[in-house]
Amino acid sequence: MRLDKYIAACGSESRKDVKKLIKQGLVTVDGSVCKKAEAQVNEESVVCVSGKEIHYRKFVYLMMNKPSGYVSAVYDKKYPVVTDLVGEEYAHFEVFPVGRLDIDTEGLLILTNDGQLAHEVTSPKKNVYKRYFARVDRPMDENDVKAFKQGMEFKEFTAKPALLEITENPCEVYIEIAEGKFHQVKRMCERTGKNVIYLKRVSIGGLKLDDSLDLGEVRELSAEELGLLQKYDNSH
Ligand code: URA
Repeated sequence: MRLDKYIAACGSESRKDVKKLIKQGLVTVDGSVCKKAEAQVNEESVVCVSGKEIHYRKFVYLMMNKPSGYVSAVYDKKYPVVTDLVGEEYAHFEVFPVGRLDIDTEGLLILTNDGQLAHEVTSPKKNVYKRYFARVDRPMDENDVKAFKQGMEFKEFTAKPALLEITENPCEVYIEIAEGKFHQVKRMCERTGKNVIYLKRVSIGGLKLDDSLDLGEVRELSAEELGLLQKYDNSH
């Protein structure tokens, strides 16, 4: 792998900044200064930047507070996509969104280049519950709670039992679902005669949306947060 790509993969500097560091002679490979961004290194090379050894990483895990108006994809013909909001310093990781939120849904979205983790989190077999806050156009009641608890049959899938929690305002609810099928929360609400007018995902498994993230903001998951996703206890 190229030296500049390797360094960019280790830290949070962009490839452009990394090139500058290399030119300035601040980078050593196996003890010797290397001023060539295109020099080849591998995972065994000892690379130091400003005298500090750095460690290669293959995967990156990002948390985004997704705003409305962005498609959960890496490319769309018509609309901006969530990866447009990811900083240039992560460009070489080629992250993709883990699961989909509708264009008008806000809240917790994970982006990564780790396909295995993405599979673990999105596979309906793994029962990783996703929690949403929803505002609906008509009050919800205990009959709706029961309907959600029973699960629901749709044309192309059966929604497993879901949790509906009604807040003090009966038009504001929390909903937890095990899957993440197309428009699932909206369709489950419609089944009970309500339309969702606002939807935000607040958690995935044990991982909660960081409330200090503004809409459109992105940050890396901490090791602890990543652990919450990886070791999720799905005995719901
Ligand atoms: N369910 C929906 O209806 N929309 C989303 O964006 C996520 C879950």
